[in-house]
Amino acid sequence: MLLLALETTCDETAAAVIDEELRVLGAVVASQEPLHQQFGGVVPELASRAHMQRILPVIDQTLRKAQVRPDQLDAVAVAVTPGLAGSLLVGLAAAKALAVALDVPLVGINHLHAHVYACRLAAGREVFPCVGYIVSGGHTCLYHCRSATQFELLGATIDDAAGEAFDKVASMLGLPFPGGPAIQRAAEEGDPRAYRFPRPMLGQGLDFSFSGLKTAVRYAIGSPGQGIDQIAEAARRLTPQQVADLAASFQQAVVDVLVQKAVAAVEQTGLKRLCVGGGVAANRPFRQQLEQAMAQRNVELIVAPLALCTDNAVMGAIAWEYLRAGKTTPLDVDVSPGLLRRKESGSTNLPP
Ligand code: KG4
Ligand code: ZN
Repeated sequence: MLLLALETTCDETAAAVIDEELRVLGAVVASQEPLHQQFGGVVPELASRAHMQRILPVIDQTLRKAQVRPDQLDAVAVAVTPGLAGSLLVGLAAAKALAVALDVPLVGINHLHAHVYACRLAAGREVFPCVGYIVSGGHTCLYHCRSATQFELLGATIDDAAGEAFDKVASMLGLPFPGGPAIQRAAEEGDPRAYRFPRPMLGQGLDFSFSGLKTAVRYAIGSPGQGIDQIAEAARRLTPQQVADLAASFQQAVVDVLVQKAVAAVEQTGLKRLCVGGGVAANRPFRQQLEQAMAQRNVELIVAPLALCTDNAVMGAIAWEYLRAGKTTPLDVDVSPGLLRRKESGSTNLPP
């Protein structure tokens, strides 16, 4: 039995063929990073146009790699939520067309659940129940995952995602996009205690907020009354050591919040396993400090390897869990760009 999974939620056009034993027969990720680099962030209209140009070649290439003909496919999966509306639509339209043409079931999947499932793939064994933690450029959320198909949202960011904060602060400091790796590199030479940045919403449940922290960095560079051009000018006058200190202090503030919220989630749920996905999981201090915090509490930590951490279609293998449970998605399904809260997801035909 063969599944074709598609992923177009943000700025990666990806496809993968995965069999029922979760073996990956072929996978392709076409990144749009160079396209958005000059803007310091993803431009939604450019992203959807690039998906349109790439989706069919990416599917062709994936099938060729897998040495599979379209008529050998048994199901088509596609991420339908959350993401950029235009980007999601390109993947969904392609998936619907294939499902109709091949007369196979369609499975609409939740991209964030798929990120957690990347840990199941990496572990090569059952990981549920667990706390699922997605820390990416677009999302920061914690789930209580009872099984692969039963996710309950515990908390999420109320403004910027952690990765987005890294990207915006990097841009303020004149560091390249994507900002996470650039901040991490700059921080290696810096003192994380040089600036006292806030740890937003610590001890206040499992939601996150990073926009105030970003503003605190801005005010450390310039002063509150200054506009964007004046801040940029002030940033150009920073010494390399000041940039390193700002990067290190900002990074430590984010890491403190991310680690302590994870601790709060495992304590609240009583679960003994934490599965982490998303690009920010590549951050070395975050990984190290999370490992330490979980080891102290006898919580098993599974972090998806980098190739499965960032957006890809292989994690769409979660669709097998739905197929096994006899759950497929009607062809009139629409995309849901926003993060689904529990009540909403129960009232749609989307994965809960
Ligand atoms: O999962 P991903 O591809 O995000 C979305 O597509 O939503 O991850 C990209 C994000 C970017 O915001 C990037 O700055 C961040 O992950 N990132 C990092 C690191 N590597 C990537 N953030 C902190 N430290 C890193 N080493
Ligand atoms: Zn993602």
